[in-house]
Amino acid sequence: MEIKTQTLPPSQRRTRPDDQQLGFGRIFTDHMLVMPFDAKRGWHDPEVRPYAPFSLDPAAMVLHYGQAIFEGLKAYRGRDDGIYLFRPLANLERMNRSAVRMCMPTLPVDTVFAGLKALLKVDGDWVPSADHGASLYIRPTMVATEAGLGVRPAQEYLFYVILSPVGAYYPEGFNPVKIYVTDKYVRAVPGGVGEAKTAGNYAASIMAAVEAQQAGYTQVLWLDAKERRLVEEVGTMNIFFVFKDRIVTPPLSGTILPGITRDSVLRLLADWDLPVEERSIAIDEVFAANERGELQEVFGTGTAAVISPVGSLHYRGQDCQINQGKIGELALKLFNELTAIQYGRKADPYGWVI
Ligand code: COI
Repeated sequence: MEIKTQTLPPSQRRTRPDDQQLGFGRIFTDHMLVMPFDAKRGWHDPEVRPYAPFSLDPAAMVLHYGQAIFEGLKAYRGRDDGIYLFRPLANLERMNRSAVRMCMPTLPVDTVFAGLKALLKVDGDWVPSADHGASLYIRPTMVATEAGLGVRPAQEYLFYVILSPVGAYYPEGFNPVKIYVTDKYVRAVPGGVGEAKTAGNYAASIMAAVEAQQAGYTQVLWLDAKERRLVEEVGTMNIFFVFKDRIVTPPLSGTILPGITRDSVLRLLADWDLPVEERSIAIDEVFAANERGELQEVFGTGTAAVISPVGSLHYRGQDCQINQGKIGELALKLFNELTAIQYGRKADPYGWVI
């Protein structure tokens, strides 16, 4: 499919704000990629055009029944001023798996990738410089636009990609965060949509996060819905535990988002010959190992924050301080390695950067 491009005249283009004042997801670039779908024509007329509000029917099915999926990936400005994408096809493939789960149409990956490159060509100046750990966050999104109140798969959708220059995800930056382990709320249930990147998962998580923040914590750690015992995720990220003799992360058993940073971390750890186990891990095991002095580090992995060290866990009135609340050695090594590959400062033996 040919990508049409309609751009703003230079006089109407904005300049991106200072790289040190970006925050996360508050500023959007001048253009977006848009592609509609209907049952008759399928995906059609992909277009790069000026960023602007959509006109949506009040009965649009996404507004009622939540057929909405999204992705998050980043573009980085390398030392050579080139623009690099980190594993973009892995995100688009995951988006198609989310689409299948939500009874939404799958995307033509080649067209979307060509459209994304066309968009980045137009808004390339918005990719921040590499100096302050900033990057351009890319948000592909698909929503059901058909007007109707019957509960069934919609026949019309809109796919679009917006771009946001971002700094650190957490205000703490790459610093240990305080985590509240919740056994009151759950993020996902077996047979549910936990492994799909669908908007409802995030909506459902907000109350737990708000309560944790009110109690002085940055985020929550999620336990499994059945027993409220097994660790699943931390905030919007996957989680890793570093014990004296092994590294453990929960397995992708259907309730956990298959993170691309998670997958990249597993690959690096394997290449560094470190013993890693993808297996269920109970929160009690984590606290017990800490009591014995065997818990060395805990960190989250995700696109937005890359690696987020956990400084302490609070669970049922008990506190567990990890690595004296300091950044762990392995978390730092992984952060440095991943960001070096992402910014093109280091050769990429994995073919992740394109
Ligand atoms: C991530 O990239 O870690 C996320 O999923 C965060 C995003 C929902 C803002």
